[in-house]
Amino acid sequence: MVKVKSYANIAIVKYWGKKDAEKMIPATSSISLTLNDMFTETEMEFINDEDIKIAVEKEIKKNRNCEDKFLGMTDLFYLNGELQDSVHTEKISKVVDLFRENRNQKVKISTTNNMPTAAGLSSSSSGLSAVIKACNELFEKNYTQSELAQISKFGSGSSSRSFFGPIAAWDKDTGEIYEVKTNLKLAMIVLVLNENKKKISSRNGMELCAKTSTYFDEWVKQSEIDFINMKKYLAENDFEKVGTLTEENALRMHKTTETANPPFSYFNEKTYETMDFIKNLRNNGEKCYFTMDAGPNVKVLCLEEDLEKLAGIFGEKYKIIVSKTVKL
Ligand code: ADP
Ligand code: DP6
Repeated sequence: MVKVKSYANIAIVKYWGKKDAEKMIPATSSISLTLNDMFTETEMEFINDEDIKIAVEKEIKKNRNCEDKFLGMTDLFYLNGELQDSVHTEKISKVVDLFRENRNQKVKISTTNNMPTAAGLSSSSSGLSAVIKACNELFEKNYTQSELAQISKFGSGSSSRSFFGPIAAWDKDTGEIYEVKTNLKLAMIVLVLNENKKKISSRNGMELCAKTSTYFDEWVKQSEIDFINMKKYLAENDFEKVGTLTEENALRMHKTTETANPPFSYFNEKTYETMDFIKNLRNNGEKCYFTMDAGPNVKVLCLEEDLEKLAGIFGEKYKIIVSKTVKL
């Protein structure tokens, strides 16, 4: 059995849209922070048909009338202690296929996230990168971080950035995934406004926006400029510019949902209130900026030196996850 740990990342320049879904070429280049305190732990081992049969029978005994959900399973996938049905398992099986020689090499994956799953808190980035790391060990491939990142993007685009830290970039033109240097010590406070599973996944959301949003071409164009500028501001260690651009880029990404057909939004009322709260804090001299992904939760970008003070302020009002970045 192999055991691995992998970290979630949150983008400050967003990946939103695919230019070529088959080759996994993103429509936009992206930059993210890899977070030390938001992670997945994954165990993986080889199993046989009998192991699958026993596990499925046990599940069916627990939940009667669920036989159909587990039909035709060729691997076992336990997420946060629960055996996943064949649809969810097949998704992960396809990722494992990138490593195994044939489907007779069956695996059991047991994985836990320390953050809410599928709530826009980037469990897919730590989850999928963890599966890739586990496969690398179980199948004794010895791939480099760069090679693993390139494989991981086929599991989930954003997961590819979790192989580099504290800051990672994914360039849409060269396809490269690499560490971005800065002397800034960045950190994040995640404000958990809603832990429920989101209704529209990032994958479906970005596809709808790319296909139908009247703002999508503009988003892609502006994002090219954002990517260049963000790298410049990071190199210049200019936190104010990094923060301001983080907010602008996130709002632009979300504008593609409002202009999609049909229009939709990942935000709720609390998201808007929280953005205002952060702006007000800034007007009072605090150094903090917001960003949001495919969900209503708000992530606060700040400097590591202000983490304790800001965690105190946000902790009074919100459920928070406080995290420094991780050096990989
Ligand atoms: P999030 O905002 O949390 O990233 P997504 O909807 O983008 O939400 O992705 C959630 C999906 O990622 C899950 O339904 C599951 O398929 C996958 N996932 C999450 N955690 C793990 C994990 N620990 N191991 C494997 N896959 C995971
Ligand atoms: C809003 O990586 O979840 O978090 O490649 O289809 O699996 P797929 O999408 P995913 O999208 C992440 C979108 C985002 C922004 C980001 O992380 O850059």
